[in-house]
Amino acid sequence: METTVAISLTLFILTGLCAGQGLFPQGPVNGAEGGTVMFITNLSPPAQPFRTISWSVGGVSIIVYNSNDSIGPVYGDRITLNKTTGSLELRNLTLADSGEYRVAITTATAETINGSTELVVYENISDANITGPSNHLFANVSSANLTCEAAGNITAIQWMKEGQPLSAGGNIFFSEENRKLSISPVKRHDSGEYVCKLTNPASSATASYRMIVNYGPESMTILGQHIAEVDTHTLMYCSVQSVPPATFTWLFNGQQTGVHEAGYIIKKVSYNNSGDYRCGARNDLTGNVISVGQSLSVKDKAPPPLSPEGAAGIAVAVMLVVVAVALGLYFGITNHRNNSTNTTETGSSHAPGTSQGPGTSHAPDTSHGPGTKGGRVYENVGPPLPPPREIQGSNIYNRSIK
Ligand SMILES: *[C@@H]1O[C@H](CO)[C@@H](O)[C@H](O)[C@H]1NC(C)=O
Ligand SMILES: *[C@@H]1O[C@H](CO)[C@@H](O)[C@H](O)[C@H]1NC(C)=O
Ligand SMILES: *[C@@H]1O[C@H](CO)[C@@H](O)[C@H](O)[C@H]1NC(C)=O
Ligand SMILES: *[C@@H]1O[C@H](CO)[C@@H](O)[C@H](O)[C@H]1NC(C)=O
Ligand SMILES: *[C@@H]1O[C@H](CO)[C@@H](O)[C@H](O)[C@H]1NC(C)=O
Ligand SMILES: *[C@@H]1O[C@H](CO)[C@@H](O)[C@H](O)[C@H]1NC(C)=O
Ligand SMILES: *[C@@H]1O[C@H](CO)[C@@H](O)[C@H](O)[C@H]1NC(C)=O
Ligand SMILES: *[C@@H]1O[C@H](CO)[C@@H](O)[C@H](O)[C@H]1NC(C)=O
Ligand SMILES: *[C@@H]1O[C@H](CO)[C@@H](O)[C@H](O)[C@H]1NC(C)=O
Ligand SMILES: *[C@@H]1O[C@H](CO)[C@@H](O)[C@H](O)[C@H]1NC(C)=O
Repeated sequence: METTVAISLTLFILTGLCAGQGLFPQGPVNGAEGGTVMFITNLSPPAQPFRTISWSVGGVSIIVYNSNDSIGPVYGDRITLNKTTGSLELRNLTLADSGEYRVAITTATAETINGSTELVVYENISDANITGPSNHLFANVSSANLTCEAAGNITAIQWMKEGQPLSAGGNIFFSEENRKLSISPVKRHDSGEYVCKLTNPASSATASYRMIVNYGPESMTILGQHIAEVDTHTLMYCSVQSVPPATFTWLFNGQQTGVHEAGYIIKKVSYNNSGDYRCGARNDLTGNVISVGQSLSVKDKAPPPLSPEGAAGIAVAVMLVVVAVALGLYFGITNHRNNSTNTTETGSSHAPGTSQGPGTSHAPDTSHGPGTKGGRVYENVGPPLPPPREIQGSNIYNRSIK
């Protein structure tokens, strides 16, 4: 019984090998022009060396090995034959090397093992490039075509944006076998880095393109107190979404102030600073202008301490107030978290350890976080502000656009 199985198994293997099946893995061997391939047989080194091994391609001999080697003329320094397995390495590939490779092996016991495999040599992909629109793009209005081109044999093209694969749908279309990406109309979130990856089985290349979608100014708010104590400093920050960044104008009671930064700073508040402030933002590319107003009232200073004891008392009182405010905020936040997702964004910036520095989490299409124009202004202010409100503002701002 066992012998029968063993014999039929041997027969099966031998017939399989003689027919050229199973000696090599299924499918072609892929090589890059100028590269190297290895035709690997699945033979284990035999007990006695093979008597002959001969390799040929399209009827042309590459190497015949018996007692001495005979190597075909164009293969002299390009091949290495493994005489124990019959595997062949072929180097410095050219496109002309593509073809059907055959091996015929005679074992020490005069059995013949034949096999064949196909080699496909691909031109390496080079000079990949994306061409995109040369005009300015405006959100909801413009369309864009990006075309990916390269030299060499290309079998597939894939597009990515910010490292994520891009698929068709919505305002995204592909054509010309994925060579062309069309976005119609462009939306503001279509700004970013586009990459096309061109591949063939033996090589790949990428090209990238940065697309800017202009929009705004939109979603303007003024961040800052409505009430300021006399002789303190105060600031109002004008937050707006705009690409390219907006230019600002601040009016006080309808009069130009000469301030053209996002932040309006009053270093030492006096009573005549009470009134109506209006921030105007203009996007020079879209030509759009918007403005928002806010009032400021200046109130009396708290009476100054009379004695060191009194000062100490006030210091303690201030600390108590700070603690109370912190607790209030904490519970306030907790409640907000439970009630509304919108205010959670705001509240979370109070959480200890959340030090979202300006400029770190800036999305590429944000315009005026502090740290650009506004940031410089604060640096000029003498005493640093308490847990800066403008940072909190930037969180609201940054998060709300995502
Ligand atoms: C094996 O290949 C050689 C040469 O390619 C050929 O002469 C021979 O007939 C083949 N043998 C079998 C069993 O296919
Ligand atoms: C093609 O790519 C392969 C593998 O990356 C490399 O070995 C070969 O030198 C390249 N050929 C050319 C012509 O650049
Ligand atoms: C081996 O090579 C020598 C000289 O190149 C030649 O005379 C001889 O016939 C060859 N032997 C075989 C078995 O091919
Ligand atoms: C031939 O291939 C076998 C199996 O892969 C390997 O162990 C051996 O080192 C190779 N011999 C040479 C001369 O490369
Ligand atoms: C590879 O082939 C090219 C052209 O056939 C030749 O110029 C070059 O010297 C070869 N390189 C090697 C390492 O054989
Ligand atoms: C891409 O193509 C454009 C236009 O054809 C050309 O100006 C640019 O230099 C190319 N870039 C690269 C990296 O080849
Ligand atoms: C573009 O359209 C979206 C909704 O489709 C809207 O929210 C957005 O404000 C529009 N933007 C512009 C610049 O018109
Ligand atoms: C994009 O290409 C399509 C054709 O595929 C064309 O109809 C359209 O006008 C092009 N759009 C732009 C903005 O070039
Ligand atoms: C690669 O491109 C060359 C010339 O463009 C062509 O002759 C060859 O057939 C192509 N090879 C493959 C595998 O597509
Ligand atoms: C506001 O009052 C301050 C003194 O409190 C004075 O120096 C300043 O000139 C006043 N500004 C205006 C616009 O009246």
